[in-house]
Amino acid sequence: MSQIELIDKTKVPQHIAIIMDGNGRWAKQQGENRIYGHYEGVNSVRDVVEGAGQAGVKFITLYAFSTENWNRPKEEVDALMELLVATISMETPQLNKKNVRLQAIGNLNSLPPACLAELNESIDLTANNTGLTLVLALSYSSKWEIISAIKQIANDVKDGKISPDEISEKNIQQYLCTKHIPDPELMIRTSGEHRISNFLLWQLAYAEFYFTDKLWPDFRKADLFEAILNYQNRERRFGKTSEQLTNP
Ligand code: FPP
Repeated sequence: MSQIELIDKTKVPQHIAIIMDGNGRWAKQQGENRIYGHYEGVNSVRDVVEGAGQAGVKFITLYAFSTENWNRPKEEVDALMELLVATISMETPQLNKKNVRLQAIGNLNSLPPACLAELNESIDLTANNTGLTLVLALSYSSKWEIISAIKQIANDVKDGKISPDEISEKNIQQYLCTKHIPDPELMIRTSGEHRISNFLLWQLAYAEFYFTDKLWPDFRKADLFEAILNYQNRERRFGKTSEQLTNP
């Protein structure tokens, strides 16, 4: 039986978030420069997005470029931006063919104008697709997102739109970039690092974490299926006891 057949279709996480890590180390192992690793990483993105659709996942969020990544050497930042533009424009017909809707979260106005224009065009062209939603986290960091949310809440309180008593978990959610997206149930990080690196800090509060030593360019849909199977064998207690879950 193949891994996808082993997946319980009634218990597939509806949202999976992925920290795609290890492109640079993968390239070094091949005796190539870091940028080669990012190019190879695109093949993993394509395969994993296809696998997510096949497994019945509804949302997949990929950490493609963090706020902190702007501090990398200029040639790497430029190459990543070029790669993003090229990939987004090249893959849009395939996204449409596979019924995938593209969305993005992050400080998108800080992206180079050509990158933002390509992104917005692809978001528009795929807006009516009803299958998987692919969310790219670009120029994203969770602390930036939370600070932006706090500023908006403070302004709305100042303008009398809401009262401080109305601030609640549900309400804060409405001020985040992910307001239309359910929280991830599963977060995957590749490359053996065990950190969440400023990624979806609020939204991952109850997510299961799955770490693998595989470097991102080696991670393919079979690895995604393995992560989903691992997730399905976990007991998600949300603060309750195991007994409470079996005898509610
Ligand atoms: C982390 O590896 C990876 C990134 C910062 C970029 C991820 C980008 C891609 C996979 C390509 C484009 C993606 C899309 C969605 C079109 P690293 O460079 O930190 O690797 P290292 O830890 O080995 O140095």
